[in-house]
This record gives sequence, structure tokens and C-alpha cells, in this order.
Amino acid sequence: MGLQLPVYMDAHATTPCDPAVIDAMLPTLGRMFGNAASSHHAFGWEAEALVEQARELLAGLIGATPSEIIFTSGATESDNLAIKGVAHAYRRKGRHLITSQIEHHAVLHSFQALEREGFEVTYLPVDRSGRVDPEDLRRAIRNETILVSVMAANNEIGVIQPLAEIGAICAENGIFFHTDAVQALAHVKIDVNTSAVDLLSVSAHKMYGPKGVGALYIRRRNPRVRLEPLLSGGGHERGLRPGTLNVTGIVGLGKAAELVVAARDEESRRIARLRDRLQQRLLDQLDGVRVNGGEDHRLPNNLHVTFQGVRAEWMLKAMRNVAVSSGAACASASNEPSHVLRALGATPEDAESSLRFGLHRFTTEQEVDFAADLTVKTVQWLRQNTPDANLEYCK
Ligand SMILES: Cc1ncc(COP(=O)(O)O)c(C=O)c1O
Repeated sequence: MGLQLPVYMDAHATTPCDPAVIDAMLPTLGRMFGNAASSHHAFGWEAEALVEQARELLAGLIGATPSEIIFTSGATESDNLAIKGVAHAYRRKGRHLITSQIEHHAVLHSFQALEREGFEVTYLPVDRSGRVDPEDLRRAIRNETILVSVMAANNEIGVIQPLAEIGAICAENGIFFHTDAVQALAHVKIDVNTSAVDLLSVSAHKMYGPKGVGALYIRRRNPRVRLEPLLSGGGHERGLRPGTLNVTGIVGLGKAAELVVAARDEESRRIARLRDRLQQRLLDQLDGVRVNGGEDHRLPNNLHVTFQGVRAEWMLKAMRNVAVSSGAACASASNEPSHVLRALGATPEDAESSLRFGLHRFTTEQEVDFAADLTVKTVQWLRQNTPDANLEYCK
């Protein structure tokens, strides 16, 4: 098939829905419309069976048992429920919490909300590659620490954290370990037992499923984790997440998980080859280019690059036919460059001159070459036409 424009390379924002996921969901929008909580008739039983099948498929992806999975509206909710739910349930045990400086805002803002309630939070730094040092975690632990939350992989620079080492330290100290695995699950094998993870957040739309649905894994044994729910309502999802289940979304999430299990390893190798090709082309043809984040522990689909002297905002405007994202968009509310790049020690200038490429299951070599050529041309043109590189940062 010929090249179709625009090319989509923003998979960290969302992935395209796999056609097999769409096919699996369609019947639930038609004749299989039952409410999974209707326990007195066939329509409800059918919907419940679909939900339970999806629960099993998702559990299989992470080495959990189905009863340890609850469905949510997405990872923002899962992160909030895990962090606030544990903090509130165990507040009498301790009021100290630990996370990292480069978490997604769903995590960081949950911790900030808890700080306003009187909890104390330690924000672990990362090294220049973006990784947390497990020894820093060890030093940060206190008698009253009840929860550690460190993401599996970062949504900007794609750095993968040493989950098993972090999990082992938490287990040794009797502290619950939550990980936001949203960006990792489609590409990296994560097993909640091998990594001693107690809570894990999932989002369907980052793994070729639909938007508006996610899940939270909550360990039930060794140790059992208790949570205070965020919402009041019916008794759905063991009383932890009331509300009529999004059967369509849940079926899509289950199918997405099944596809990842079947294809992940081979697919990740293919995507990594394409990402390396893109990276090589940019580095070969342009000066003043730096790859952000360490390359040893990086998602296979991530490439985050600083183009010195060129504002990302201009590049995005000039590159209409390649959908990428500014790795350092000024958050409109705070007018601050990316907290992730700042944690890596990047200057505001560099942070403002960075693009994030996110490849995915359907990315082709032709698309990669087109994206590389357009990026090179755009950077060269902008450098020539803004000779003083007079960058105006987020002021
Ligand atoms: C690391 C990470 N956590 C959480 C979220 C939020 O997920 P959702 O869109 O399902 O609420 C995202 C989405 O951008 C993410 O990248």
C-alpha cells in the first residue's frame, strides 16, 4: 500500500485501535447490549461473561489472577485510586509516601493532593538517563513509609525503570509498590510477581485498545492490599469502583491484551529496528541533535530528540504531514517546560527544542523514511531562516 498522509507517530499520546479490537467490540454495541450487573437474565449473563473473559485476558498479560483486576475509566482513575486509595486505607500506619520526579501528572497530582491532606511525599530524582537509583529509594524509606509509586516506562523519554529492584526493596521493607505501566505494557513484559508489584495501572488506548477504559491490578495475597474507593455507589468491582461497567471498552481492553501477549516480543523487535533507523537518519544528516534519555533501557517505540536552536513549536507547525509531539510543550497552566526534561538536567532552551516520536504496531519503513526526510528538511530550513536562533522560551 502506498504512503498515506499524514503519518501518525505520536503513539505515546494514543495508539490506533487495532481492527481486531474493533471487531471484538462491535457486537456489544448491537445485540450484546446487556448490563453486566443484571444478574437475573440472559442479557446480563452474556455481558458478564464477556467482562470476565476480558478480566482473564488482562490478568494473563501481567501474571495476575482475574480477581485481582478491577476495571476503571482509564489510567488517570487507576493512578488516583491506587495512590489515594492506599494512602487513605493505611493512614494510621504511616503518612510518608515516595514517588519519582518524572511521573505522569495523574500520579504527581495525586501525591500533591495527599500533601495538602497532611501526607509527606519524597520525590526521587533520576540520573541523566532518566532512571531512579534503587539506592536512593532505599535511603528515602522511613518507618512510616506506606507506599512507593514509580512508573514502569516514561511517556516522554521512554526510559524503563528497574521495576524488579524497586519491588524487591519495597517488599523487604513491607511497603506497597504501585507502578503506572501505561506506556510499557504494549512493548515490555511485566510480571507482577517477578517484579513484586502490588498495584499496577493500565490504559487501553496506549495498547491498541479504545479510549476511556483502563484497569487497576490490586494484589490479593502476599500481601493483600486494601483500598478506600474514590467513588460512592453500587457494589461493582468488589465495591472498589462503583458504576455500570463499560462492557464495550472492557471487551476492547481484553482483546488488546490478548493481541499484545501474542505479538509483543516480535513486534517490539520490529518497532525497535524502525526506531533505530529513524534515529540514525536524523543523527547522520543533522548536526546539533541529541537523543534524550538513556538508550540502554528505552521503550522500543520511543525517540525523543533535541534539535539545538530550533523551536519545537515551529517544527510542529512546519511538519503537518507527520504527527509527532513536542516533548516539552509548555503546560498552558504553568508555562513551564517539561518536568521530565528538567529532571534530566536539560536547559529550558533544549527542553523547548525537542520532539517526541512514538512508533507503533502499524508504522512502516516507508513512513519512517518520510518522517526522517521531512524532519531533516524542516530543521535545516528553520536553522537557515532563523540565523540567530532567537528562541523565545515559555515566558
Ligand atoms: C504514563 C501515563 N500514565 C497515565 C496516563 C493517563 O491515562 P488515561 O488517558 O487512560 O487516563 C497516561 C496518558 O497519557 C500516561 O502516559
